[in-house]
Amino acid sequence: MGHPTTAAVLLCQLGLTAAIHWLGLTESGSGVAWNESHHCRLLAGLVPDQFQMCRRNLEVMHSIVRAAHQTKSVCQKTFADMRWNCSSVQRAPSFGPDLLKGTRESAFVYALAAAAVTHAIAQACTSGELPLCSCGSIPSEVPGPDFRWGGCGDNLRYGLQLGTAFADSPLKSSKLGTQALKAMHLHNNAVGRQVLSDSLDTKCKCHGVSGSCSVKTCWKGLPNLDEIASDLKSKYLAAIKVTHRLIGPRKQLIPKEMDVRPVKETDLVYLNNSPDYCTPNLHLGSLGTQDRQCNKTSVGSDSCNLMCCGRGYNAYTEEVVERCHCKYHWCCYVVCKKCRRKVERYVCK
Ligand SMILES: *[C@@H]1O[C@H](CO)[C@@H](O)[C@H](O)[C@H]1NC(C)=O
Ligand SMILES: *[C@@H]1O[C@H](CO)[C@@H](O)[C@H](O)[C@H]1NC(C)=O
Ligand SMILES: *[C@@H]1O[C@H](CO)[C@@H](O)[C@H](O)[C@H]1NC(C)=O
Repeated sequence: MGHPTTAAVLLCQLGLTAAIHWLGLTESGSGVAWNESHHCRLLAGLVPDQFQMCRRNLEVMHSIVRAAHQTKSVCQKTFADMRWNCSSVQRAPSFGPDLLKGTRESAFVYALAAAAVTHAIAQACTSGELPLCSCGSIPSEVPGPDFRWGGCGDNLRYGLQLGTAFADSPLKSSKLGTQALKAMHLHNNAVGRQVLSDSLDTKCKCHGVSGSCSVKTCWKGLPNLDEIASDLKSKYLAAIKVTHRLIGPRKQLIPKEMDVRPVKETDLVYLNNSPDYCTPNLHLGSLGTQDRQCNKTSVGSDSCNLMCCGRGYNAYTEEVVERCHCKYHWCCYVVCKKCRRKVERYVCK
């Protein structure tokens, strides 16, 4: 240590505390019973409002820990084919410049994390885990001719109420980051929740003699978080660079490079350009793509050309073991053989 660049990076990270600090609950919050209020002190870094919410609402912490786990795994899955592959969320509760500096990547992670908390709470209501909520209310829409409302819908309303309070409270406290950064994160949190709300869909179950489906019961349910993440990835790719400027009586986020119009409620926004993530650079939070696997036949972001930034790739063969020649035996099991197959893999130089 003592190297000037390391010191600078360290200082920079100490100065910026992330409002997604709570993603660190995957480490400190798993395996906690969350039945005694002193458990809320386990995560240094919950802001006072989150701490109060934890004490008043201990049961909901299970859902929040689950949301933190899901945010990390779904983000990495969604970005597995990209140069920036979200591996840096694993560092939570401390983050690198890629997630601290108002980048496009942080826009995505904040939106996903905000959606994940609301999603987890809404579904915990449905599964009966929480004492203060249950199934979502019966939709006000008139049911179709072939179904009736029933079952137990996800309680999006309760999820939004608690999820918003939890995810947004670090951004409402005065200490964290610049006004512009807070406005950006608040906006992106809201986009995440909007995408989630828009995804609420009618799901049905058939009844009737031998699956005739003469009677259908339907409710409103949320899709998997992967689906939300995939929508948010499209928004990430189309994210808008903004500045925080005084418009009339108050400061607003407005697009930097297009005509001045307010950003839409459905656009992800960012303040700072990201590096290309091709080469390692600690200051920029780039890990580089050396040794990343690429796909020789793809034409997308995981193609060897794009993933390796034109540096070329090395090929190697790997033996994979698969189940094969499966036979069904009456009744009721399947026996398979093990087959070995050689596959070509490519990794970036
Ligand atoms: C909390 O849960 C743990 C583990 O299940 C149990 O040992 C402990 O007695 C519980 N505490 C209270 C206050 O219920
Ligand atoms: C993500 O990228 C980093 C840095 O290039 C790499 O070390 C890691 O193995 C990658 N993760 C996956 C799942 O490919
Ligand atoms: C590589 O890309 C092609 C075309 O997109 C796809 O069909 C194939 O499954 C990919 N291979 C791997 C190993 O991901």
